[in-house]
Amino acid sequence: MQPLEIKKDIYWIGAIDWNLRDFHGYSTEKGSTYNAYLIMGEKTVLFDTVKVEFTDEFIDNLRALLGDKKLDYIVSNHAEMDHSGALSKVMEVFRPEKLVCTKACQDALNKHYHNNNWPFELIKEGDELDLGNRTVQFFGSAMIHWPESMVSFIKEDRLLISNDIFGQHWATTERFDDEVDQGELGRQSAKYYANIFYPTSPAMKKFLEKLEVKNLEFDMIAPDHGLIWRKDLAGILQKYKSWSGWGSKKKAVVVYDTMWGSTSKMAQAIVNGLAGDGVVVKLFDLRTCHRSDIMTDMLDARAVVLGSSILNSGILPKMADMVTYMKGLRPMNKIGASFGSYGWKNVITKLLNEQMEEMKIELVDEGISVQYVPSDDDLKRCTELGEKIKQAIITG
Ligand code: FEO
Repeated sequence: MQPLEIKKDIYWIGAIDWNLRDFHGYSTEKGSTYNAYLIMGEKTVLFDTVKVEFTDEFIDNLRALLGDKKLDYIVSNHAEMDHSGALSKVMEVFRPEKLVCTKACQDALNKHYHNNNWPFELIKEGDELDLGNRTVQFFGSAMIHWPESMVSFIKEDRLLISNDIFGQHWATTERFDDEVDQGELGRQSAKYYANIFYPTSPAMKKFLEKLEVKNLEFDMIAPDHGLIWRKDLAGILQKYKSWSGWGSKKKAVVVYDTMWGSTSKMAQAIVNGLAGDGVVVKLFDLRTCHRSDIMTDMLDARAVVLGSSILNSGILPKMADMVTYMKGLRPMNKIGASFGSYGWKNVITKLLNEQMEEMKIELVDEGISVQYVPSDDDLKRCTELGEKIKQAIITG
């Protein structure tokens, strides 16, 4: 993909990964982009690189843009390999004077690429890099995902290069937020937050507060994935504020796996009780739905209801996968309940409740288990459970 000038003398110089379908457990059904940025000013500065398989294309684009100029500096905002994969080759080919990053990033890059000869210049929170006609200010965003992350603010251009923050996994030829379908952009932004930043929401909250306190005057946010924000900056900032504050709506997600259909029938009955009176319900069958899509809907849900059948004295494998993934992402401020069917060992609610308690999900009921196939009375109890959860959502 050809570079694109996004501000005067500042270029998007990334790669589009149309084929990416899995990002360590996150389903990237629309691919992704790896966004790097190049300043062509008194100093030439590259911010981040791309995933290793796009190295040749990236170097060709860099060469074409630089022409007979040398590359003065590289800024590494984030060491993860989707942004540093091409770094070794870029360092070898262009030999910049400085590789600017935090100490934590230097450690991470050294442990990834084992090259101690790079000309590191270490910066920390609030430091500035003088580019002659421009100044880059650095702000730490440590543990918003990785320990070494930082963002770069180019004052004169009112541009915030935000590494992964405010990104989306979405391969497009469009580069700006106002050029794409807004519903899809919202969905992909939420999916990115839910599957990448959810567990570090307290750090994200502090970072957003820091942005407010510093009163940075930016009119463009350029993340390392997906679309660049030039129109709805207020909208995405507001969404991040809500997500990082664990805000929720009158919404429930019901997630289940089933062996012979009993737990599925119970799930439907629970949804019948839950839906209505302003409460939105999303039902997910783990045999057909992906964990990362479920997490996206869980992001703003107040209630989480988990159901499984018993298999070999445990929960079904897809539910085990789901709760392992959920635990890592640490959804907070949720209420919930469990349900499921069993053959001869009545432990399903005990097993699921233990998992939910470990995730600090407040149980509004001890849950419902049914032996073999639910009767009409059992399904009525499930509907009543749904109604009870709905009341807890409405009142709480
Ligand atoms: Fe896009 Fe944390 O890497």
